[in-house]
Amino acid sequence: MKIFNTKIAGTGSFVPDRVVTNHDLSQRIDTNHNWIVERTGIHERRISDLSKGECPSGMAKIAAQKAIEAANLTVNDIDLILFSATLPDQSMPNTAAVLQEKLGITNHCGALDVNAACSGWVYLLPMADAMIKTGLYKHILVVGSEMLSAFNNWDDRNTCILFGDGCGAAVLGRASENEDSKIFSSILTCDSTKKDHLTLMAGGACKRITHEVLNNNEQWMTMNGQEVFKAAVKTMAGHAEKVVKDANLSMEDIDWFIPHQANLRIIEAVGNRFNIPINKVIVNVDRYANTSSASVPIALDEAIREGKIKRGDHLLLATFGAGLTAGAVCLQY
Ligand code: COA
Repeated sequence: MKIFNTKIAGTGSFVPDRVVTNHDLSQRIDTNHNWIVERTGIHERRISDLSKGECPSGMAKIAAQKAIEAANLTVNDIDLILFSATLPDQSMPNTAAVLQEKLGITNHCGALDVNAACSGWVYLLPMADAMIKTGLYKHILVVGSEMLSAFNNWDDRNTCILFGDGCGAAVLGRASENEDSKIFSSILTCDSTKKDHLTLMAGGACKRITHEVLNNNEQWMTMNGQEVFKAAVKTMAGHAEKVVKDANLSMEDIDWFIPHQANLRIIEAVGNRFNIPINKVIVNVDRYANTSSASVPIALDEAIREGKIKRGDHLLLATFGAGLTAGAVCLQY
């Protein structure tokens, strides 16, 4: 069987125009700009506006159009849509199906939603890679689109300061014979012993949203921040080291490290573990906060469009999220 190499053919991203600063939050809850910056590195975040269509599929439409254009393709070249969202547009129809229609794709390509929380988009890369390698699909649209503002309790200072909305997308396709692009290695894990540290229990089949749930204020995300912090540093660092080794590379060969943008202290702690200089790390958590599974593809797209990441560069991607899921990928762009 002929094996193809996978390349990131094009990327795109979208963040809403509405900026919410730390100062804005301090008008509502007992917090302040300095505390948030010191503990997280976050200065502001973007919050979507449903009246402008900025739901997960709506944000994804714009990011995907940019990615398809950057790949020099048209919408009907896409033969599979993989869509990561922690909270989809609605339970049915799936958000990937809604996106297919919004993009005007008429070829009836497959359209699948996945949820691995913040790790979702990185989780999808090895899956798309396997399907492209084996020739099953030619152009897979991989989307991470998140509207955390919908389940972020704006009265809970422990969580609400951390999150924002946005979308990142990439088209994965076959590298031609004369291109070096490929996905070298990946790891996907989940430590379910820590699954209770980050939850949104109401709104699924087991706990419907009822008056009682609303009266108890259970419709929001809950988090044990310190436990998540510790697990994030340990797991992301371990995974990053493993995929680089599996790619037969060393950390010095890595041109850009693109970590999940949850907290600048987590990013710095992971970088310090393997001495990766901060100028090789893509950071936008200061501007967008944690956009869950959109964070890595937004950071990737911005760095490509700014001309930082160039063809041939070795990229290291690492993420973690509720579950606790985690993943890392090492690739040549
Ligand atoms: N503003 C001001 N004070 C705050 C605050 C806020 N927004 N949030 C918490 N505090 C207070 C706490 O109440 C506590 O006060 P106390 O000592 O009087 O009890 C104090 O600040 C320290 O809180 P602590 O929880 O120890 O802070 P921390 O250094 O662990 O930082 C997080 C908290 C949430 C920023 C940090 O734990 C974190 O980023 N964890 C990872 C979360 C994450 O990434 N989640 C997403 C995963 S995908």
